[in-house]
Amino acid sequence: MSAGRLGRTAAFRSLAGDAGLEPAGLVQPIFIRHGADGPRPIESMPGQFQHSVASAARFAAEAAEAGIGAVMPFAIPSEKDELGTEASDPEGIMQRALRAIAEEVGDTVVVIGDVNLDEYTTHGHTGVLDAAGEVDNDASIASFARVAVAQADAGAAMVAPSGMMDGQVAAIRDALDGAGHEEVGIMAYAAKFASGFYGPFRGAVESSLTGNRRSYQQYPGNSREALIEAALDVEEGADIVMVKPALPYLDVIDAISSRNELPVAAYQVSGEYVMVEAAAREGVVDRAAAIEETLLAIRRAGATTIITYWATEFATSGCR
Ligand code: PBG
Repeated sequence: MSAGRLGRTAAFRSLAGDAGLEPAGLVQPIFIRHGADGPRPIESMPGQFQHSVASAARFAAEAAEAGIGAVMPFAIPSEKDELGTEASDPEGIMQRALRAIAEEVGDTVVVIGDVNLDEYTTHGHTGVLDAAGEVDNDASIASFARVAVAQADAGAAMVAPSGMMDGQVAAIRDALDGAGHEEVGIMAYAAKFASGFYGPFRGAVESSLTGNRRSYQQYPGNSREALIEAALDVEEGADIVMVKPALPYLDVIDAISSRNELPVAAYQVSGEYVMVEAAAREGVVDRAAAIEETLLAIRRAGATTIITYWATEFATSGCR
């Protein structure tokens, strides 16, 4: 049968296609800002908002209504400090948001906490710095473990350590188990590339990063390192491994998903989102078609799970 015949109707296409875009495989990031009194537009990410705790819970309910599989809150604290103390504070913005969202959506949506210090530190780095100003691996993972437990206590069903420190998955698994959270899963950022596509997100979370993360994120020209990192995360007890960004790294998604049994998530990051939105605003690409095509490509490469700023809108209307 020729490709033309298989493409004739939607029924034919989904019968013969190898990739679907069920809402249940999509994850919606949600930004929450301490002190926000409702959704406020994010300048660097047109179409996205910084929420209050209450409006974040409403947005999560909307995502649940649309059949989205998971939500991933990111919080902007009232105060940053050297150690990122608010990240593990039970009354910190992230924990308050997790409680409100979990209460709103119950078990219908997986609530995933981002475990990291970068929104909470004055220097904007992901971990704790040593006297020389370098990220201290062991001190950082001890801190991540406390953050993960605080998030699980607040209602996160899964945590996603994004700090790229060695041994972070094992340390978090131990800490969660020790705190009685054996049921809480880990989505590990196995491959997080030092990417130019995170720029708009840093605006969204008001990051104070100076310098860069090249010493602990991966070099975009190296895919073998990503495979090793993914294998380590699997060994350390990850439940899902993640590749980030998504579209520039389809080969890595493909390689990781064909080499291990775990589900593979891909994070379609802020720069990927903004590129399509900007081109659509310029009238040079068809927005809905471009969005769907990026999601299909990521899915086709082997991602079971896609974190995308379009999740709820795509599930609701196909972004049309
Ligand atoms: C770390 C984190 C970042 C993103 C997700 N988690 C920022 C970074 O590493 O600088 C970026 C996601 C995006 O660009 O959409 N908290």
